[in-house]
Amino acid sequence: MSKLGSRSASPLNGVVTVPGDKSISHRALMIGASAVGETRITGLLEAEDVLRTADALRALGARVEKSADGWSVQGVGVGGFATPDDIVDLGNSGTAARLLLGLMATQDIEVQLTGDASLRSRPMDRVIVPLSQMGAAFDARDGGRMPLVLHGAAEPIPVEYTVPVPSAQVKSAILLAALNTPGTTTVIEREATRDHTENMLRSFGAAIDVSAAADGGRRIEVTGFAELTATDVAVPGDPSSAAFPGVAALLVPGSAITVENIGMNPLRAGLFETLQDMGADIEIHNRREAAGEPVADITFRYGALTGADIPAARAPSMIDEYPIAAVAAAFATGETRLRGLAELRVKESDRFSAIVDGLGACGVTVAADGDDIVIQGCGGPIRGGAEIPVNLDHRIAMAFLVAGMASSAPVGIDDAAAIGTSFPGFVELMNGIGGNIGPVAAE
Ligand code: S3P
Repeated sequence: MSKLGSRSASPLNGVVTVPGDKSISHRALMIGASAVGETRITGLLEAEDVLRTADALRALGARVEKSADGWSVQGVGVGGFATPDDIVDLGNSGTAARLLLGLMATQDIEVQLTGDASLRSRPMDRVIVPLSQMGAAFDARDGGRMPLVLHGAAEPIPVEYTVPVPSAQVKSAILLAALNTPGTTTVIEREATRDHTENMLRSFGAAIDVSAAADGGRRIEVTGFAELTATDVAVPGDPSSAAFPGVAALLVPGSAITVENIGMNPLRAGLFETLQDMGADIEIHNRREAAGEPVADITFRYGALTGADIPAARAPSMIDEYPIAAVAAAFATGETRLRGLAELRVKESDRFSAIVDGLGACGVTVAADGDDIVIQGCGGPIRGGAEIPVNLDHRIAMAFLVAGMASSAPVGIDDAAAIGTSFPGFVELMNGIGGNIGPVAAE
């Protein structure tokens, strides 16, 4: 395992772009593979998670190629997958696992799936339950864990399903399964989650209807057997990746950076709202639309932050940003309460514990209170001086490297490899704007 350490940075300055959005990249490949014709994708995130999806789709029969000006997918049409001739390994990617299970579940194929130690420990029951109702069968380990075998439904059945936890992955799995299912499949979500699948299905010509559900959530209907038409996709920069240089600039004295072309889907932008609640100097400019998704450039400037009470209702729109939000809170003045974080326990690692333990190891007063995390901000540099176990979790790795850029003593991580699952070039980008992240000699 290669260790990395982050030391006090000089003021961060510059204009940067971050790699393409991970969620949109997975969906562009999967929906492109289900369309008729060639889908061209620019800005695709070329990180391990997304490359696993590309490999899986190739194994299922789609042609996925990288060319000089982007990526192309030659789709096989809805229902056109073939049984792969080997086990499909999805590495670290929960999104690849849940969404592909949906896409494959209503096709008459058999697929063996596995992943790395992190993915093999994550619950797949949340998609196995609705997909079984649609006619698929699964042989999985306890709790629906991988490795598993999917026996796709030869005669899929439409369902109406209320997603029990706020999860865009579960919602998307069912919507993708609905493509090859006769009649209308309905998904109800009590709290709105990222809607990239809905947006992209609509732009590929699927029969999809989204309306307000009775209790404030959303009701999404997909009518099956519609033909999808190949459509070009321009993937915007990932707001979840932009969060790392952005928050670093808020914390390192004298900094001002601009991150251009950030995806600003309202169901992904909760962190920016939270930082503004904390008094951050964030300027959102040049708002525009690209390929059906809102984008903008954001300037982040150093300045004092104040603790805030962040409501549970905001969790779906910043679910991946809690590690870096918690780091920001540790530098703020006063208490921050991050509410309603149960889902953090089943991410790439148990992020709830990783945040509490990691900040504690860096000298921050932090406590778990039920599903909330309560942080007493230091009102300036935190102590640092700890090595954080990454447990195959890219966002824990990057969040604590950002903490080290502004803490009194360096902060290390025990395994840098996980960063490549979502943000290739992270260290180079951060050091290019003034960071001081480098290897730590193994003991
Ligand atoms: C994602 C949904 C979220 C998020 C993940 C990406 C997606 O997961 O944490 O990184 O692309 O749909 P959940 O659906 O489990 O909340």
